[in-house]
Amino acid sequence: MRPNASARHLTSRVVPALIACLTSGIAAADTARQGEQVYEEVCAACHGRGVARAPQLGDRRQWAPLIREGQPTLTAHAWVGIRGMPPRGGRADLSLEAFAGGVAYMAQRAGANWQPPDPALLKRIEAEVRKREARLKARGGKAD
Ligand code: HEC
Repeated sequence: MRPNASARHLTSRVVPALIACLTSGIAAADTARQGEQVYEEVCAACHGRGVARAPQLGDRRQWAPLIREGQPTLTAHAWVGIRGMPPRGGRADLSLEAFAGGVAYMAQRAGANWQPPDPALLKRIEAEVRKREARLKARGGKAD
């Protein structure tokens, strides 16, 4: 093997591994930032100042009972819409994953250890959404 070829060989193996390493770290940081971004862009309009009694960012007293509902239930209820909370925060183009990141960010700021959902958690949230929608339908669209 010529030295040149072996150097190329090494590069072809090491560089992709390095890139994979770097990008997985970046991806994790990105999802956390995305939750904050969603909050700033969509949720802050109401949750920043407590408009119409929206639980305010960082208000532990308001968030404590909500956090006790658990991440799948609370995320699903807010996503489907509850009382003054419009479905999807009023943004029809928002994905459930992005929305859930926004919820996780607000819960974190109130002291909970919630993370943006991984695929398993996202499935549990989706199951709660289906349950909630079925219940709403059975009651003619009225949330409790
Ligand atoms: C137009 C105003 C408005 C926007 C925008 C909004 N919310 Fe809300 N949200 C509310 C109000 C009002 C409530 C309180 C509902 C109640 O209890 O009457 C609420 C409640 C909630 C709750 C608690 C739900 C429960 O079960 O009591 C969560 C979680 C939530 N919002 C998440 C979000 C997220 C995430 C976003 C952004 C993607 C968002 N909201 C955007 C007004 C808003």
